[in-house]
Amino acid sequence: MFYLLICLILSIFLNIFSQQDFTGSYRELLGKDFDFTSIKITGTVKKEKANVTFIEDAKGMKFCIKQLNIDRTRTQFGLVREVLASYIAESVVNIHINKVRIIPANIDFPGKILNGIATLHTFVPGSNKSVDYPIKITLQQRLSKKFSIEERGFNQRVILYMSVHRDLPLIVAFDTFASNPDRTCNNLFYDKKTDIFCGIDLELSFKLPFERDLGILAIYHIKKFMKEKIKFSSKEIASLKKYNNTLKKLLEKNSPEKLCRILDIVASYAGFIPKNKNAYNEELDPANDINLVVHHNRSRAATHIGFLPKDIFSVIRQACLA
Ligand SMILES: Nc1ncnc2c1ncn2[C@@H]1O[C@H](COP(=O)(O)OP(=O)(O)O)[C@@H](O)[C@H]1O
Ligand SMILES: [Mg+2]
Repeated sequence: MFYLLICLILSIFLNIFSQQDFTGSYRELLGKDFDFTSIKITGTVKKEKANVTFIEDAKGMKFCIKQLNIDRTRTQFGLVREVLASYIAESVVNIHINKVRIIPANIDFPGKILNGIATLHTFVPGSNKSVDYPIKITLQQRLSKKFSIEERGFNQRVILYMSVHRDLPLIVAFDTFASNPDRTCNNLFYDKKTDIFCGIDLELSFKLPFERDLGILAIYHIKKFMKEKIKFSSKEIASLKKYNNTLKKLLEKNSPEKLCRILDIVASYAGFIPKNKNAYNEELDPANDINLVVHHNRSRAATHIGFLPKDIFSVIRQACLA
């Protein structure tokens, strides 16, 4: 009885300490050495939807601040999805994606130029201009219905390109897992000095309804490759194995419940506080109704993960052996 009690207390303690703390706060990224007194703004990028400013402290620590210039709640919630997806990438080692955290609306921060919420991003060195790598890499798993099903998702083009560098199958697996259709060339950096690829821009992760899901499309393509007896090169097979292993680790580390927990914490830190998790006022513009936006995003994140086909690993393994 005594031993049982000790075991119970121990397991409660272990559980508490092994749970990663998610706050969504920008302070997590800055670290205690960041010097607030000497921040320089070193550049800005203005795009149709986003403003990005680059900042640097006296010791050369660099970050970016991103803000969206469309005021709708539904659009601004993209910043929460970006932080959620960043936590997911951090759950598995060697997935190179920039880290992202929230700067709430009421916090003044150098480089924040609009009112409202911003995100703080670790600075990614190198270039997204495809000039430093011998070939142009296109890893985008498209979701738009503008394209035929063969052009969407994890098709042969994606497998060919992800096989050219060790970092790429991990980034592609992350995009499949988070259903991120936005891995355009602009959102993939290559640093010649370190020979590292790194992804940015995760706002569109978990956004679309689950019937347009990259996991479902991946399984569709792989089953078709097997039926048509497509032959992959040895490099492609090695990259498929890495893709498979990374997806497996992502699935082990991120349950739908955990995703909902992180999403709620980050959303509330950012100031999106639903009054009643399940109700919404239909008279309001749905794009601006916080209850509806949080509810939709929570259920989409959970269903994307919940419906990731469970046979994906065995199907890819078979495809590798075929
Ligand atoms: N972490 C980062 N490190 C370096 N440059 C960045 C980073 N985040 C954004 N940028 C620069 O800002 C641009 C716009 O940022 P992005 O997040 O892609 O916004 P958008 O949603 O408008 O495409 C990028 O194309 C890139 O040039
Ligand atoms: Mg972008």
